[in-house]
Amino acid sequence: MAKRIFSGAQPTGNVHLGNYLGALRNWVTLQHEYESFFCIVNLHAITIPQDPKLLAEKTRELARIYLAVGIDPEISTIFVQSDVPQHAELTWILNCVARISELERMTQFKDKSRKQGENVTAGLFDYPVLMASDILLYQTELVPVGEDQKQHLELTRDLAIRFNRDYGEMFRVPEAYIPKVGARIMSLSDPKKKMSKSDDDPNGCVMLLDDPDAISRKFKRAVTDSGTDIRFDDSRPAITNLLTIYQLLTGQPTDEIEAHFNGKGYAQLKQDLADVTVEFLRLFQERVKGIGAEQLNRTLGQGREKARQIAGTTLANVYAAMGIVGACVSD
Ligand code: AMP
Ligand code: TRP
Repeated sequence: MAKRIFSGAQPTGNVHLGNYLGALRNWVTLQHEYESFFCIVNLHAITIPQDPKLLAEKTRELARIYLAVGIDPEISTIFVQSDVPQHAELTWILNCVARISELERMTQFKDKSRKQGENVTAGLFDYPVLMASDILLYQTELVPVGEDQKQHLELTRDLAIRFNRDYGEMFRVPEAYIPKVGARIMSLSDPKKKMSKSDDDPNGCVMLLDDPDAISRKFKRAVTDSGTDIRFDDSRPAITNLLTIYQLLTGQPTDEIEAHFNGKGYAQLKQDLADVTVEFLRLFQERVKGIGAEQLNRTLGQGREKARQIAGTTLANVYAAMGIVGACVSD
């Protein structure tokens, strides 16, 4: 069987530099080594209330972003989660395998539910099971994600192992692929928090669709550490975060970057970083604009067919293994 990767992002808010550097960027490289599935997880998005019109727009926008960062629809499958009903169906099955106690331990659920107060939905609690279904339907080998998804991946593995034990070998047990550099890009306004679209301070997060002024302003206001040296140093998280972004966007090795900034001040670092980011995002945004509705429809239509076929086979095998039969089975 082909070695597969599967990953996804939610069509909520705006895609930011953390999403790109921690996840999407690696999808682009890995697609040449693996049979790849990249999903727009709109069913995950509604675990928190969304404006329907905006959700529909953001779903299309995210598909454009996948294409514009360099995912090639000739070799990778890009599709929308809700186009493949097997994701929701397998979630029901795996709900009957997952334990409430293990879902209660998910730190992302605890964080998000704290923010939602009284209105936490059952869907938010069940979010990791839907994610496990996404992954397991495709017999996925590797799941390239940022650090914040590690616990969800462990749960996915546990569910696969438990199912295989109880009903016979069914699912490939996937591995997380978490990059050594960039797995956790931090907020520009608070280097103790990850860069996030739900950051209270909008200056902490550079969006892929930000204009040059916004990008420069955000880097200019970025928090720095005490001291003056510009070096990669874990004890100085703000500067290290800025240098990490610079490194990932320029592809330069650590020592070259440190040599480049030797004797220069923080203002220069921020300026150079803004310049590199503005140029990178300018080219990216041009590509986004160049993707027409027809191309998008074609990509998502092909993706839907390919995904349905594989997901349908897995789900049929799951039903058969569990003794779930319907009207057309003879005695
Ligand atoms: P989301 O937009 O929450 O669906 O996330 C999409 C992908 O981006 C996931 O693989 C996340 O792990 C990754 N990601 C989100 N925030 C960051 C961050 N600050 N640094 C690195 N990766 C991130
Ligand atoms: N939960 C992931 C996030 O917020 C998105 C996601 C949903 C995902 N299903 C997935 C990522 C399957 C990888 C594989 O980032």
